[in-house]
Amino acid sequence: MTYLDEAATSPVRRQVLEAMWPWLVRDFANPASSHEAGASARRGLDDARARIARALGGRPGEVVLTSGGTEADNLAVKGIALAEPRGRHLLVSAVEHPAVLESAAFLARTGFEVELLPVDGDGLVRPEVLAAALRDDTTLVSVQLANNEVGTVQPVAELAAVAAGRGVPFHTDAVQAAPWQRLDVAALGVRALSLSGHKLGTPKGVGALWLHRRQPVEPLVHGGGQQRGLRSGTEDVAGAVGLATALELVGPVAAAEVAARRDRFVARVLAGVPGARLTGHPTRRLPGHASFVLPGTSGESVLVDLDARGIACSSGSACAAGRSDPSHVLTAMGFEAEVAQTAVRFSFGAATSEAELDHAADTLVQVVTGV
Ligand SMILES: Cc1ncc(COP(=O)(O)O)c(C=O)c1O
Repeated sequence: MTYLDEAATSPVRRQVLEAMWPWLVRDFANPASSHEAGASARRGLDDARARIARALGGRPGEVVLTSGGTEADNLAVKGIALAEPRGRHLLVSAVEHPAVLESAAFLARTGFEVELLPVDGDGLVRPEVLAAALRDDTTLVSVQLANNEVGTVQPVAELAAVAAGRGVPFHTDAVQAAPWQRLDVAALGVRALSLSGHKLGTPKGVGALWLHRRQPVEPLVHGGGQQRGLRSGTEDVAGAVGLATALELVGPVAAAEVAARRDRFVARVLAGVPGARLTGHPTRRLPGHASFVLPGTSGESVLVDLDARGIACSSGSACAAGRSDPSHVLTAMGFEAEVAQTAVRFSFGAATSEAELDHAADTLVQVVTGV
């Protein structure tokens, strides 16, 4: 199989699994236990938290471990909105992951006013659009760092500066960007940032929310008061070690190499499939991400045909797999519903070879054109 669906999930990295192993089989105790075994697990947890913080340019006390990106987004959006005294107006981009959009929809049902920030045809939120939408009672802005369906990378530092100018907290979902760039919360100027381990090479079910130390937040998971009461539940020490290791493995070299392979792949697809269009920003996009609309086809049936030929990709939003509604991302970018139904997404990693991508492009051309 040629696996070109890394934006949905990536294989667990050997170094990550090896780093986790001792914390699963030897130092497996509950980090809250008072015996020496528990203390050892606690030290492992503290060390992993410090490494995660360092990888993000933050402080250890600012890292809340979660069960993944979805929980991190829920805690950021609902937790900040519920704790912030500023008001009950929320701004979220129209192209957010459902973890953000549905959290905002929940708040709307409880009396918040949620406004969707529009995007342009490339999927970008323009800083002037945000500036015009901010109000004195805006309690939170949430705009992702990179989009999971079309790969567009948002100008988060600029957007966060606009929000900060009005004293409004800014959350970014960095789940898709994290595998490709070293994150620096201070340079981004955000108050909260979500991560998911399984896009980075940890097992599924591991994530974190970085939260600025002075950012008020209402906990959503109540219980034994772990993680300073911000997220109760026995901490996943091995998962935290895995996330720290995975973040430390992110480097700029892989990103540049993969971007060159992506550009070759995109050119091959556009040359071979009449009418095909790359979706998302042509240059401000994730290195390992190529998404297209293929007018005249059905994204779902192209996906099935590619699968039958040993190529695993996605027809759009992997996180909404199984649903056939047109993508909210593409419709927000101005695509007609019929065109949005023709979306296909290929996402790959540092280990994906040029030969695999050439083969995938040629197979796609064959599937769509019959030659
Ligand atoms: C942008 C984005 N945010 C959040 C998530 C959810 O992360 P998780 O699967 O860890 O819950 C995903 C998953 O695809 C994503 O792409």
